[in-house]
Amino acid sequence: MAKFLANLLKPYIPLFILAFLGSLLESGALAGLAYIIKNVVDDVFVAKDFKSLIFILIVLVIIAVSKQIGFFLKNYIYPLIIYKVLKNLREKIFDKLLNAQPSFLLKLDYGDIISRATNDIERFGQILSMFGTNIVTEVFVITGIVFILIYRDWKLFLIFLFAIPLLALALNYFGEKRKKYSQKLQESMADYTQILNQVITGFELIKLFNKGIFQKIFSKINNQLYKRQKKNTFYETVYLGSVELIAYTATAGIIFYGGYRIIKGELTAGDFFSFLGGVLILVNSLQTLQRGAVQLKALSPVIDRIQLLLNLPEEKEEGIEFKGLKDKIEYKDVSLKIGENQILKDINLTIKKGEKVGIVGLTGSGKSTLVKLIPALIKDFDGKLFIDSYDVRQYNVSSLRKYIGMISQDVFIFNDTLKNNLLIAKPNATDEELIEALKKAKADFVFKLEKGLDTVLGERGSRLSGGERQRISIARLFLKNPDIIIIDEGTSALDVETEEYVMEEIRKEFSDRTIIMITHRLKILDIAEKVVVMENGRIIEEGTKEQLIKEKGVFYKFCSLSS
Ligand SMILES: Nc1ncnc2c1ncn2[C@@H]1O[C@H](COP(=O)(O)OP(=O)(O)O)[C@@H](O)[C@H]1O
Ligand SMILES: [Mg+2]
Repeated sequence: MAKFLANLLKPYIPLFILAFLGSLLESGALAGLAYIIKNVVDDVFVAKDFKSLIFILIVLVIIAVSKQIGFFLKNYIYPLIIYKVLKNLREKIFDKLLNAQPSFLLKLDYGDIISRATNDIERFGQILSMFGTNIVTEVFVITGIVFILIYRDWKLFLIFLFAIPLLALALNYFGEKRKKYSQKLQESMADYTQILNQVITGFELIKLFNKGIFQKIFSKINNQLYKRQKKNTFYETVYLGSVELIAYTATAGIIFYGGYRIIKGELTAGDFFSFLGGVLILVNSLQTLQRGAVQLKALSPVIDRIQLLLNLPEEKEEGIEFKGLKDKIEYKDVSLKIGENQILKDINLTIKKGEKVGIVGLTGSGKSTLVKLIPALIKDFDGKLFIDSYDVRQYNVSSLRKYIGMISQDVFIFNDTLKNNLLIAKPNATDEELIEALKKAKADFVFKLEKGLDTVLGERGSRLSGGERQRISIARLFLKNPDIIIIDEGTSALDVETEEYVMEEIRKEFSDRTIIMITHRLKILDIAEKVVVMENGRIIEEGTKEQLIKEKGVFYKFCSLSS
């Protein structure tokens, strides 16, 4: 933890020194105020000396100005440093997410990742900011004031010391309670956001079901939120009240003993009021410090949560540079188990360069998983997957993926312009190239968009249908112009006529490329020189369409059902 913080904060040492000076200035001013009260009382009120009044006025002005300068420095610069740190952290985490190993990331809970990258980062910043503005400053204030109290009258200070253990006890007990309920309150807030989110994103579908269930769930969450808010405020009030009670009692003791010693002539009125002023500042500082200490306890768990993101295993930029498929893709005894599930079993399959292979099989038979091994999206399988003479895991992944294009049922569209959504496939493409690709993908609908390529996708009014999304993904395929093409039901949302048109475009454009097609539509398989049939993670039939029909096996049944 210390190392983590040191690394993050090291670049800002000069700024720290400045903020630190602010803390010193502010605490010095407060201590000075407690000190000067003696002169106000003794020299002005008691001795009635006009010169002293002027002098004190000048000193007070200096104190006030220093305090404000200090206040500005610390309250602006500590957060400023933290914002810089957070900016770096957010960038690091985003990079980590982009470069993370897919198989590792897929195992994590998405909500949890988002929460770590938002709430925890936010909390981390708050705690660090608070540490600078409150804890550092208050430690200075307390040190300064304690010196002045002892200097003014150490016997009175002893009385005050008696109150400290009581104060600490109250602060601790109620502090813990408060912490517990404020944490529970956070959880309730999260529940509340979550259900709102679910209802808003799924609201069309929810309307078709029983709303009563949602109302019940919501009212439970809302009730709990209310109760926790109530308890949280209750303990906060009791906490503050108890601290004040103890402070008043201590003050009463000080007034009594102090008054007694003034009467006996052992103490001047100025000493007494200076002492009292110091005590008031001290109690306030102790409270702030204690609140800070409670928050500080959360720092270590928060850092742990952030570090999980920073330590996500990354895909490294190492390995053999892939320069395009020269010979073949070859699965050799490939098996994959995820948990207890045998997803792939003893797969042996050779796909020659330029070959067009169709894959068919029931839902869940492992087709998508099989093809995901080629761009190394899954690496922890047994056996070997050769791409030319090396196993897929020996290549530099970025170089490999440059040559692979994949379209599937799910299309990734991000909230930005159509143009940027296409440029991810070919960053330097001209507008003409983009339009040509869209035409080949039969994405005619985009030409009707008022803002054309600059239309922001995903906004109201430019939400796309499943078929429209798939056409954009197909346009990306034309732009990327890959060596190896994987179509995982990538045209399934198109109508039959459009699908045939698009497949014909793909066939013409990529006649010399290696194409692997997963599909339910027989017509598409006409392009395939070889068909592979999968069942329960195994390849059960392999051959040309005609051969397989003649064998009258599973594929034959599939054909007779489809026609
Ligand atoms: N990340 C994963 N974790 C656990 N099980 C998975 C994962 N991905 C796929 N599966 C399981 O693997 C099996 C094959 O899935 P998939 O390859 O998508 O089949 P298909 O594409 O043939 O429908 C399914 O039973 C599915 O539930
Ligand atoms: Mg699939």
